[in-house]
Amino acid sequence: MDYTSNIKEKKVLVTGGLGFVGNSLVAELVNKYGCKVIVVDDCSNSSPAILGDLINKIEFHKISVLESDKLFPLFADVNFIFHLACVQISASGSMPVHDMRVNAESTLNALEYLRKNKPPRFERFIYTSSCSVYGSFKNLPATEDGITKVLSNYAATKLLGENYTIIYHKQYGISTSSVRYSNVYGIGQSPTNPYCGVLGKFVHNALTGQPLTVIGDGEQTRDYTYIQDAVSATILAAVHPKALGEVFNVGTSIETSVNKLVDLIKEKIPAAQVVNVPERDIDNIRRRSVDIEKINSYLNWAPVYNLKRGIEITLDWYRDFLKKK
Ligand SMILES: NC(=O)c1ccc[n+]([C@@H]2O[C@H](COP(=O)([O-])OP(=O)(O)OC[C@H]3O[C@@H](n4cnc5c(N)ncnc54)[C@H](O)[C@@H]3O)[C@@H](O)[C@H]2O)c1
Repeated sequence: MDYTSNIKEKKVLVTGGLGFVGNSLVAELVNKYGCKVIVVDDCSNSSPAILGDLINKIEFHKISVLESDKLFPLFADVNFIFHLACVQISASGSMPVHDMRVNAESTLNALEYLRKNKPPRFERFIYTSSCSVYGSFKNLPATEDGITKVLSNYAATKLLGENYTIIYHKQYGISTSSVRYSNVYGIGQSPTNPYCGVLGKFVHNALTGQPLTVIGDGEQTRDYTYIQDAVSATILAAVHPKALGEVFNVGTSIETSVNKLVDLIKEKIPAAQVVNVPERDIDNIRRRSVDIEKINSYLNWAPVYNLKRGIEITLDWYRDFLKKK
């Protein structure tokens, strides 16, 4: 059964809707599902320009998710709430209290509002968590019911946020679902954004004649998820009855080394140069991949884009992005 028809033409609120994942999610909700979308974003790590003409098809509120008096009136008649607004991992250490407030406290406040006010049209609250909750990834691929071992403020507050969604579902019957993304990459993220991952940096450097920097031996692995796959998993987790009160890994289960990324980029841009630099103390996660059996069996979701294809599309998008700048 195709549950995505449950979201067609519905009213949807997306916090962090101008961010990397948010802008693709908003585009999909508007263009594919005809949703009436409200975007809430304080523009602390984004700009409305990323939406292009789409900005005219949505309702945008430049407010913080911490401004409850302005945020909660917007909940009154929405069907779905996608809570993506976050303080990024690399900023979470320097502003720990703000990180906790945005990533976790805003989630608790929203769930409390839903519990107390029971907005009549509300159907589901979706929280976007992170595979960073697994920490050092001892047993690969990491499963949702396996050990979590947070190594950063960000991971701690993302885990807290997702735990609130589980508690509010179990104790108060609030409809929630959470997804744990693994290293999302692709279109809609400016690789000059200081928070973009290694793949984003490689794309930027390869297209601007700068070297690809490989730290250590380059055999560190990650599980890279193409943005469109992350978006489809998130929408499915919002509409599927079996996702209620659940948490799902979103990834590919494939470990890819930094050296392999370099090879894939060089296949498309042979002139790309590589420099090797020594490992740093902070590079503490050697290997990462997530098990996607649960999302596959519960929601019948599987990634569609392989890394080679995802990188090709990202390079094309970023070439165009640079031309327009
Ligand atoms: N991109 C990834 O690889 C990845 C991996 C794991 C989890 N996630 C999660 O997915 C979600 C989206 O991540 P992203 O990569 O798009 O991040 P992003 O930084 O690109 O987007 C986050 C957005 O939230 C906004 N924001 C920050 N603080 C806010 C506040 N107080 N009020 C309102 N808006 C605020 C920012 O301006 C930005 O537009 C986050 O919850 C993140 O934790 C992302």
